Amino acid sequence: MPKARKRKTPITSTDTSDASSSKPQASRTLIRQFHVLLKQQAQLQQSLGLPSGAASSISRPSNTTVPASSSNQSSASVVGSSSSASISFKSKASGSAKPETTSQAARKLELAEVEHEIERLGGLAAYQRMSSIGQGMDRGGGSEKVFISWLRELGVHEHCKNACIRHRLLEVGALKPDNYASCSSWLEVTPMDLRSRHPAIMEQDFLKMNENEHRGKWDLISLSLVVNFVPQPKDRGQMLQLARSMLSEKGYLFLALPLPCVTNSRYLTFEHLNSLMTTIGFAELKSKWKEGGKMAYWLYGKDEPLPINGRFHKKQELRSGNRNNFCILL
Ligand SMILES: C[S@@+](CC[C@H](N)C(=O)[O-])C[C@H]1O[C@@H](n2cnc3c(N)ncnc32)[C@H](O)[C@@H]1O
Repeated sequence: MPKARKRKTPITSTDTSDASSSKPQASRTLIRQFHVLLKQQAQLQQSLGLPSGAASSISRPSNTTVPASSSNQSSASVVGSSSSASISFKSKASGSAKPETTSQAARKLELAEVEHEIERLGGLAAYQRMSSIGQGMDRGGGSEKVFISWLRELGVHEHCKNACIRHRLLEVGALKPDNYASCSSWLEVTPMDLRSRHPAIMEQDFLKMNENEHRGKWDLISLSLVVNFVPQPKDRGQMLQLARSMLSEKGYLFLALPLPCVTNSRYLTFEHLNSLMTTIGFAELKSKWKEGGKMAYWLYGKDEPLPINGRFHKKQELRSGNRNNFCILL
């Protein structure tokens, strides 16, 4: 009798399979719906004094994040689903000693509706599935191609080869475990995500990583389409500051954002982002985007931070009109 063959564990588990009948437009619509819903969820949680993600139905391990819509929708915009279409947000973080019980109850109800809708759409799993489809259709593959080509241009690949070392890369928001498989001789990759889709992807909220433990530990950090997923502008800033602290002295940060986050935001422009990054302590080495494109990419090296002096603490309208509200604060 022939010996039964031992099956190898596939590099991608079923969850990371991108096979889908989804049409590109449907994927984009769903992603946008998620961004709006998750933002609403975060605002409601904040107004109720709940930690982000606490009541979440999307199986996040911690104080997750919520994406910013990169479209022209405002944070109070309609989601396109009957259950949440009527939700409007005038509330700010309550902070008052005696919250209005009725309004609190109403907000709790709204939160339940929003979470129900998130669940109905399939939760973070569905969002990740659609994002991985988007990776292929909008960018002809993942952002890692851009990152790898820049590292090669900078001679990082050569340096690692000559010195017989591998650079440690923390890939935040990894939908697949093997995005950098072609670079395994010079990169040692740790893929991580709020929700792991594969045993080789560490399930971890980046914002909750121990800064002391990780200070200067990473040669490379990738934040590709992750900062725009974070709901609160201050958390986005914190994410960038944490990344700087976790990078080694000669480390590089790779950042990718949907282009409208910088070209069509009320609160962010290319110049403003550059100034914010310089203040945090990053020097821009490379950037890439094209008119009418969907994505913008940057590569930063570590530099001395500048005094913040109250800058970037508050939203500052840089341009008006029918724009989105994407913003990063420190
Ligand atoms: C749009 S997907 C981007 C995936 C991929 N990096 C790309 O460029 O296509 C965003 C991913 O970031 C993850 N994410 C968002 N905030 C995170 C955080 N604080 N820590 C870890 N992962 C996070 C989400 O769970 C999601 O899987």
